[in-house]
Amino acid sequence: MPDQASHPVLQLKELTRVHGSGATEVHALRGINLDVFPGELVAVMGPSGSGKSTLLTIAGGLDTPTSGQVIVENTDLTTAGRKQIAALRRRSIGYVFQDYNLIPALTAAENVALPRELDGTSARKARAEAVAALREMDLDQLADRFPDEMSGGQQQRVAIARALVGDRRLVLADEPTGALDSETGESVLALLRSRCDAGAAGVLVTHEPRFAAWADRVVFLRDGAVVDQTIRSDAASLLTGQAAER
Ligand SMILES: Nc1ncnc2c1ncn2[C@@H]1O[C@H](COP(=O)(O)OP(=O)(O)O)[C@@H](O)[C@H]1O
Ligand SMILES: [Mg+2]
Repeated sequence: MPDQASHPVLQLKELTRVHGSGATEVHALRGINLDVFPGELVAVMGPSGSGKSTLLTIAGGLDTPTSGQVIVENTDLTTAGRKQIAALRRRSIGYVFQDYNLIPALTAAENVALPRELDGTSARKARAEAVAALREMDLDQLADRFPDEMSGGQQQRVAIARALVGDRRLVLADEPTGALDSETGESVLALLRSRCDAGAAGVLVTHEPRFAAWADRVVFLRDGAVVDQTIRSDAASLLTGQAAER
């Protein structure tokens, strides 16, 4: 359950993003406000081109807004320096991509250990943390496998372990189940849900109502603006009603 008494892990304030300029200008985000609390999983839904990926890349410090604020664990990414943002991305933010993005030449454990090593943790300690993160997700038996020796679902679960290793408390996932069959997709979502239940804050972009149903709250985007929000208690009716057709 979201812990709304604590400080939000992620705050987006009046966020706008204009891609391009002049005749090719695209208003990808038009004044987004969103707080995500520890323990909370927020699903973001909306048609293709509605700004979901733009929102997520800005929240993760991979893109910068045209105006507005992005605050992650008390750091304002819009005023922080490049080094500070890079450190925050290594320590506090985990990003899960649709196509897993594991490094093919590294084993599962090495992939998970990499962000810790990049952050200055010794190889030995990073390995121990990686194996612990994999064990927590019932993946430790795969620690020494390479990505091409794992199924898509296993690779995506390793990618989630990598996104959450160390003290990182914000996990951002852009259609993480996009390339998976629905049963495997459910297992990835169960994992994300359990990490949020353990105190992480999560934002999940998805097209699928059945995956969004794992969230505490569903935010619907259209043309770069939030057009609707629902909490879990009424998510089911909304998702099976008009919202599912969007
Ligand atoms: N790098 C970019 N340059 C120009 N336009 C972009 C860029 N990225 C996204 N857009 C445009 O911004 C809008 C929102 O895109 P996006 O955030 O990818 O939407 P979604 O993830 O919901 O499909 C779309 O109109 C898209 O074409
Ligand atoms: Mg997208």
